[in-house]
Amino acid sequence: MQEKISFILKEAELFVPKSLAEVEDFRIKMLGKKGLVSVLFDDFKNVDAEQKRALGKPLNELKNTVQNIIADWQNNEALSTKVETENDIDFSMPADPLQLGSRHPLSIVRKQIIDIFSRIGFVVSEGPEIEDDWHNFSALNFPEDHPARDMQDTFFIDKDIALRTHTSSVQVRIMETQKPPIRIIMPGRVYRNEAISARAHCQFHQVEGLYIAKQVSFADLKQTLLYFAKEMFGDGTNIRLRPSYFPFTEPSAEVDITCHICSGKGCNICKHSGWVEILGCGMVDPSVLKNCGINPEEYSGFAFGMGIERITMLKYKINDLRHFFENDVRFLEQFKSAF
Ligand code: DAH
Repeated sequence: MQEKISFILKEAELFVPKSLAEVEDFRIKMLGKKGLVSVLFDDFKNVDAEQKRALGKPLNELKNTVQNIIADWQNNEALSTKVETENDIDFSMPADPLQLGSRHPLSIVRKQIIDIFSRIGFVVSEGPEIEDDWHNFSALNFPEDHPARDMQDTFFIDKDIALRTHTSSVQVRIMETQKPPIRIIMPGRVYRNEAISARAHCQFHQVEGLYIAKQVSFADLKQTLLYFAKEMFGDGTNIRLRPSYFPFTEPSAEVDITCHICSGKGCNICKHSGWVEILGCGMVDPSVLKNCGINPEEYSGFAFGMGIERITMLKYKINDLRHFFENDVRFLEQFKSAF
């Protein structure tokens, strides 16, 4: 302890502050509750009687000396009148780097999809994430015993209320309330009762598209999707439609694009087929139009729906869906240069 006393004393004697703020910092460092001198006084309580006799005096002297030194500096005129002048500021010093944030990859791709479709006249619409049976299933022709209506596949809140399983529900809301021509895209979050893995999640994002007007044909659908694929994945991209089934479209198709990882030559990602699936689509079933109050004799239309996660994974070569939801900055920081 004697050594510590000498050490602190030396420090106080050598102390030369440049400003009153430095004097205050020094006071706290020495005499504050956890200050060097105060801590010595705490330690003093625990030493034996003989040491107490030897150390009491030097310890008190230390405290007095430090207090005096600080008081002298506090009253020092040169310090209290000193104003920071231009000469004290180093204008050539590099500024602290600004930490730039980055957009989430899903936001980047959602914006790209919206931009691409807005260039051909589609406008954005949104709907609720908590949906009723009618908008999510019945109006879209889902039969009573369809597996999606099962608790195993859908998060039900009530008998007739669930977290929407797809953005197709927004189609119904728009068709019920707007008159054709309708040309909209509907981005949003959707939910399914799935175990979380590299390829599936209980929440993800979709973008739905809908075009209803007079004499809309399957050719219009194909051309629209070809335009989208080329804008999103590059000019060399082609599309391929495979017949499929959805309750709300007839005919229905699934759309593949040229695998842009191997340019169609065949790789692990496309399972050596040269093609990867990106969306589902079809001509809106006349009975869906009727359910929503639109005359199928007068109007026809097409619809499509795609997963934003899937498009993002293909575009940025991401191999695990869970990355999107973990908020690991090492992953997110890689998208700083994207807009
Ligand atoms: N709703 C479908 C799904 O979640 C995707 C879909 C397929 C949307 C075909 C459509 C469509 O509008 O026409 O898997």
